[in-house]
Amino acid sequence: MLPKAVKIVEVGPRDGLQNEQKLVPLAAKIALIEQLADAGCSVIESGSFVSPKWVPQMADSAAVFQQIKRQNKVRYTALTPNLHGLQQAIAAQVDEVAVFGAASEAFSQKNINCSITESLERFIPVMELAQKHQLPVRGYVSCVLGCPYEGNVDPQKVAEVSQKLLEMGCYEISLGDTIGVGTPVKTQHMLNAVLSVVPVDKLAVHFHDTYSQALVNILVALQQGISVVDSAVSGLGGCPYAKGASGNVATEDLVYMLDGMDIETGINLNKLTQAGLNMMHALGRQSNSKVARALNT
Ligand code: HMG
Ligand code: MG
Repeated sequence: MLPKAVKIVEVGPRDGLQNEQKLVPLAAKIALIEQLADAGCSVIESGSFVSPKWVPQMADSAAVFQQIKRQNKVRYTALTPNLHGLQQAIAAQVDEVAVFGAASEAFSQKNINCSITESLERFIPVMELAQKHQLPVRGYVSCVLGCPYEGNVDPQKVAEVSQKLLEMGCYEISLGDTIGVGTPVKTQHMLNAVLSVVPVDKLAVHFHDTYSQALVNILVALQQGISVVDSAVSGLGGCPYAKGASGNVATEDLVYMLDGMDIETGINLNKLTQAGLNMMHALGRQSNSKVARALNT
């Protein structure tokens, strides 16, 4: 059964921009977030409170949160890998935070400098402090369909890490195909394993589109009843610690598909496309979204 409505988590300002080599001006980041809100995006991952030595592009996240004009109906969220990050996020008055783990040991080491087990231990005080501040916490699991260092990833491992994040108090688990290598049957198998331990209404999917498989994999997830999907405007993105990872599925392409299936998103495709084109203009590149390119001709 397909869902009637899908919550799109717009990750462009964070996942989309974190991999940009040249520093994106603060004003352009703020304009993007405000235009995404105007287009109807209800959840916008707007920054990341990580080490600026690891991800220099996100070093101005506090300023982003301080300077954006916020809309009441929008949740502005951020990544927080540890207590230090959460404290900054609380000071910046974020609406929701996310911890991020992985289903692959090698990726965990490269991305957050610790093992999977250590990362889960590190998240415990993050969850406790977030709960004290009544901040909802999302949990990401990376490399759910393949790892740039280890290759295949066991669906059971994805299920195990997802279950632990859920038990720890994450209200939603986002399953990340970080390097975009998944295909539909593999996606189905992975989801079967996770759905045996995590209820469907707690799951989100997060596909990078490296091999143009994201939309078809999202369709598989929708057919399972999953109704939360992450995407980045213009198909921006990539993880600096996942070699070969290209952008997230483009929000424009996702909204076009969902509009065509009569699944509500609350997002205005024309306004969204314009927001993306404005950012691509600032970056000096063409959009990665086929829909944006088609609408702009
Ligand atoms: P570490 O070096 O092990 O940390 O890094 P540490 O605790 O030993 O601290 C080292 C230094 O970093 C210290 O500063 C700390 O103060 C500072 P120094 O004394 O050297 O001057 N530090 C911080 N500064 C600012 N904010 C913080 C913070 N924490 C420590 N929160 C750490 C561990 C987790 C911090 C590091 O590995 C890191 O920042 N990693 C982030 C990597 C990242 O952001 N990756 C991209 C996001 S994940 C992703 O894209 C995947 C996803 O999209 C899903 C998918 O696609 O699958 C979510
Ligand atoms: Mg990602």
